[in-house]
Amino acid sequence: MALAHSIVIDNIGSLITNDPTIGEGPLGILTDACVVVTDGEVEFVGAAGATADDHIDAEGACVLPGFVDSHTHLVFAGDRSEEFTTRMAGQPYDGGGIRVTTDATRATETSELDRLVRLRLHEAHRAGTTTIEIKSGYGLNVADEARSLEIAKRHTSETTFLGAHLLPSDYEGRADDYIDLVCNEMLSASRPHAKWIDAFCETGAFDEDQSRAVLEAGKAAGLGLRLHGNQLGTGPGVQLAVECGCASVDHCTHLTDADIEALAGSDTVATFLPAADFSTRQPYPDARRVIDAGATVAIASNCNPGSSYTTSMSFCIAIAVREMHMTIDEAIQAVTTGGAAALRRNDVGHLSPGAAGHLVILDAPSHHHLAYRPGVPLIHHTIGPLGSEV
Ligand code: NIG
Repeated sequence: MALAHSIVIDNIGSLITNDPTIGEGPLGILTDACVVVTDGEVEFVGAAGATADDHIDAEGACVLPGFVDSHTHLVFAGDRSEEFTTRMAGQPYDGGGIRVTTDATRATETSELDRLVRLRLHEAHRAGTTTIEIKSGYGLNVADEARSLEIAKRHTSETTFLGAHLLPSDYEGRADDYIDLVCNEMLSASRPHAKWIDAFCETGAFDEDQSRAVLEAGKAAGLGLRLHGNQLGTGPGVQLAVECGCASVDHCTHLTDADIEALAGSDTVATFLPAADFSTRQPYPDARRVIDAGATVAIASNCNPGSSYTTSMSFCIAIAVREMHMTIDEAIQAVTTGGAAALRRNDVGHLSPGAAGHLVILDAPSHHHLAYRPGVPLIHHTIGPLGSEV
């Protein structure tokens, strides 16, 4: 039997545990602290000075749980910088570029797609992300959706089947036939590689009934439910997600009072994707009202080649604080415990004993610097998985 291996991260100036029973306030902050991680699990959190097999000196910096990025589309090929450039010159975003990425992805060898996913995961890990969700959605046929998920599953347990991302061109005018394919043959082929199912419920993508059909088929197949909704305008997405018991409804950029009320009375997490609103020149969501109403919120990167080509959760924190009127503490919770709630996980996003030993050491004395110093690479060291999670 292999011997246990422990590591102590010591001399931590400010430790965010996200466990109010361990430290001060909702973030459970400890000062002059250390964390001992044994065989990948938090074994001890408390005053500095514990011993272990290995030792990392945090040199008085801030340490927090690794970020939980609950919404990405990392399996893709091709480049849409031209579309972004046109958008910055005034063209609106309508999601139509998904087909451009679909063509490029279908034409790319599996080994190359896998290499691209690895590069993006490496980038995300350097930026502090330790748990990540990856969607399909750039295959849009039976073989390529299943292939995208098979690749995603090599790297994370949080894989989402998004066959209902956009109508592929060969189904133009036949959306219901395509939904039938998604709910049957495509779902069967994708099911072995997926934990979740998702649909893009939006004008120009899929309507309420089509999205409901996808969620119901996924549920019957044993998948967890999530939904893209209310990205480009108000619509049925949020209320459909609540009605169906989705773990999360993602974007939530345009919300009515009734949407906020529905979220507040549910356990569906409202996941904001502020880097997408940045990159598509959408208004920012009114996070303040959603939080004040009592809903659980998360923030995710939405890394994809069209609406949000970033893996930086720090960038998302800075936008959420500056533009969405979240406090810095709320933004930190949204990228840790919020992301974990959106994935229905209680082993990540916090540093209580028994939790996953996923941590970020900052090049900064406090978590406030993540919003105070936007654009500065403050992630000194990320400890724990991405990529080896499964
Ligand atoms: O979450 N909204 C739909 N899907 C992605 C965008 C995909 C793309 O433009 O390629 C999103 O923003």
